[in-house]
Amino acid sequence: MSVPPVCLIQHFFMKERLISQAINVLDENFQPGGFTIPCKGLYPFQWKWDSGFIAIGQAYYDVSKAKQEIATLLDAQWDNGFIPHIVFHNESDTYFPGADVHRSDLSPVSSKKYKSTGMTQPPVTGFVLEEMYRIAKDKEDMFGYIKSQIDKVYDNHKYFYENRDVNDEGLVFIYHNWESGTDNSPIWDDIWETMNPPEYTFERRDTTHVDASQRPSKREYDHYLYIIEIAKENNYNDAKIAELSPFLVIDPLFNAMLIKSNQALINLYTLIGDNDDKIAQLVKWQVKSIKGFNKKLWDKELGAYVHYDLRKNKPISFVTSSSFSPLYANIPSKERADILVNTMMTKFGGEDKYLCASFDPESDRFDPKKYWRGPVWINMNWILFNGLKNYEYNNIAERVKEDSIELIEKYGFYEYFNCKKGTENAGYGGDNFSWSAALLIDFLNN
Ligand code: DGY
Repeated sequence: MSVPPVCLIQHFFMKERLISQAINVLDENFQPGGFTIPCKGLYPFQWKWDSGFIAIGQAYYDVSKAKQEIATLLDAQWDNGFIPHIVFHNESDTYFPGADVHRSDLSPVSSKKYKSTGMTQPPVTGFVLEEMYRIAKDKEDMFGYIKSQIDKVYDNHKYFYENRDVNDEGLVFIYHNWESGTDNSPIWDDIWETMNPPEYTFERRDTTHVDASQRPSKREYDHYLYIIEIAKENNYNDAKIAELSPFLVIDPLFNAMLIKSNQALINLYTLIGDNDDKIAQLVKWQVKSIKGFNKKLWDKELGAYVHYDLRKNKPISFVTSSSFSPLYANIPSKERADILVNTMMTKFGGEDKYLCASFDPESDRFDPKKYWRGPVWINMNWILFNGLKNYEYNNIAERVKEDSIELIEKYGFYEYFNCKKGTENAGYGGDNFSWSAALLIDFLNN
């Protein structure tokens, strides 16, 4: 018998150690109510897209937790199919703004069971169900679970297409930066310039957990709260929000997640059978969305997909990691994908950097330490890794994966990381962060 080389043995032990640390992080953040908080103190409730990524990791080592994670989220669905971005299952005074600020009870269609916010987050749940099916060892059991949940996800997509596609072009709007998931991206700076909110008095909690230099500013929070106030005054009615919100954007990441999830629902319903009407509807949405996406969000000069400001009726011409997310949903043609990946490697891919910064490192708005203004995020890397593989950019995909593993191994299970190689203490934001742990488990098994 030949003996495996030392480096392979070391690699094996490194992998086993990291996986067990990751499981530990997730188990520590798991709550008795059957959901997982993103991290202690900073984010003490259930967040929508966090839960999706978390369930992917849990599916590898505790299927029942993964199932509960998504079931508890979908249990908070509103009567109109909407799924909120935070579900306040529990009380906590470590987070602002809490349930008393968001007041989901103002909406006549909100959940009577749970308090929540009245905004949403990227629709990842469809493709998460498909991932859970891929990962599950007992396919029959997971199939039964998916059958019991999938219609709720379908209703959520229906909600988006019926309430948020204002131009009937297959593209849905977000009305708040927190809906994008990329909370304080420089993309929003020019929108803040168009607003002049009051200077609210409130007590931030995030900056008691994390260095203020790594978080949004007080003035940014004024803007965030102001949009919530407008939505509340209109009882979270989408038509009113579309008319009145100063923030109304078509976000490429959000729409790419919807398109990826449409496809996952088509695949899963096909497997289930007897759902021809739903499949036909999903295909219709899908064709329209991909066409609308390529038409409206492609910026020829930048060689990338960009955000679109529906208030000003013009594109927001900056390159972010969201610009590359359409690869994951098979949106670009091969020719366009080549241009996109070239943009990514030219701007973000220098040898002195980890892939992939969240904002264009060549821009003067780039900040490598500040939340979504530049740092590397593991969930975005996971989306990009899978997107690059879709188009067979296997070497770059491998680099994204290896960079992600190295960042966590070197610095810990942080929320976000400095993209500049050789930075001391390059992990920022929340520590023991659930989706960094969950997606590392997937990376190491992939
Ligand atoms: C926060 O509070 O920073 C959250 O990201 C909002 O979703």
